[in-house]
Amino acid sequence: MKYKVCGRLGKNLKAGWLALVLSVLPAFVVADEPPEDPAHAHDPANVWFIGRGGQLYDSWMATTMAEKPWGNHPAYPAIGNKRGYPTWRCKECHGWDYKGKDGAYRYGAHRTDIKGVRGVLGMEPAEIQKIIMNETHAFTEDQLPHSAVEMLSYFLSFEQIDMDKYIDRRTKKALGDFDEGAHAYQSVCALCHGYDGKKINFASQKYPSYVGSVCARNPWQALHKIRYGQPGTGMVALSNVDLGIVVDILSYCQTLPEE
Ligand code: HEC
Ligand code: HEC
Repeated sequence: MKYKVCGRLGKNLKAGWLALVLSVLPAFVVADEPPEDPAHAHDPANVWFIGRGGQLYDSWMATTMAEKPWGNHPAYPAIGNKRGYPTWRCKECHGWDYKGKDGAYRYGAHRTDIKGVRGVLGMEPAEIQKIIMNETHAFTEDQLPHSAVEMLSYFLSFEQIDMDKYIDRRTKKALGDFDEGAHAYQSVCALCHGYDGKKINFASQKYPSYVGSVCARNPWQALHKIRYGQPGTGMVALSNVDLGIVVDILSYCQTLPEE
C-alpha cells in the first residue's frame, strides 16, 4: 500500500531521512580506517612507538635482537611449510596484508589457514595485549617484553591498513602515481638501493632479489617494509609520511629491474 505524506510534515520527513542517510554514510566510508585515537597516535613521539610496532609485527626478534626461538611455534599448523624461528613471526601466521587466510597467504608456501588481524582494528590496546600474550601465542616476556607488546597493540589498533585499497589483489599492481613515486624514490631510497634499485641484493648472486623484485612479486611485503623499514638494519621508515606517497613509491618500484 502506498501512502503520501503532504505538506510541511512530508518535507521534514524527507529532510530527516536525507540527514539520517548522510550521517550514516561517512561511518561506512571511513569504517575501515583507524579510529580517532585517544593516545594521540600521530604525536611525534608516538609515531616512533607505533612504527616500532610495525617492525615487531614483521620480525620481533630482528627488531629487538632477542634470541631466536628453537623449533616451530606451537600454534604453527601441520599444513605449513616453514620450519623453526620464522614460524614465530607475526607476519608468518597473519600475513603481510594482515588478512591471514583471507589474504595473499590463502595459498602458496606460506599458507597456514590462520585468520588475519584485521578484526582488532580499533580494539582497546589493552585487550589486544591480552590476545598477544595468551596461551595460543605462547610468547614469553623475554621474547616480547611488555613495551614491545604495547607497541604491537597500538600498531594493530591504530595503524594497520586495508591493503586491498592500495594494491590490486589480482594483478599485484600498486594503485599509486608513478611520477610522484619516482621523485620520492630517487630522493630517499636511491641513496642506499641505487637509482635502479640494484645496489643492494637481498638474496644470492645466482638468484638475486632487488627492490624491484620484492615490489613486483610481493607488493604486500614491500608496502609493509617501506612504511616501517627493514628490522635490524638502518633502512628508513616512512610511517609518518602520507600513505599516498608510500603507495606512489611502491608503484614506481614495481617498474625497477627484477634481475
Ligand atoms: C604460529 C602462528 C601464529 C603466530 C606466529 C602469531 N599468531 Fe596471532 N594468532 C594465531 C592463532 C591460531 C590465532 C587465533 C585465531 C582464531 O581465533 O581463529 C591468533 C589470533 C591473533 C589475534 C586475534 C585476531 C582476531 O581477530 O581475533 C591477534 C591480534 C594476533 N593473533 C596477533 C599476533 C601478533 C601481534 C603476533 C606476533 C607477535 C602473532 N599474532 C603471532 C596464530 C599465530
Ligand atoms: C639507509 C639506507 C636505506 C634506505 C634510505 C632505504 N633502504 Fe631499503 N633496505 C636497506 C637495507 C640495509 C635493507 C636490507 C638488506 C638486506 O636484508 O640484505 C633494505 C631492504 C629493503 C627491501 C627488501 C625488504 C625485504 O623484503 O627483505 C625493500 C623492498 C626496500 N628496502 C625498499 C626501500 C625503499 C622503497 C626505500 C625508500 C623509501 C628504501 N628501501 C630506503 C637500506 C635502506
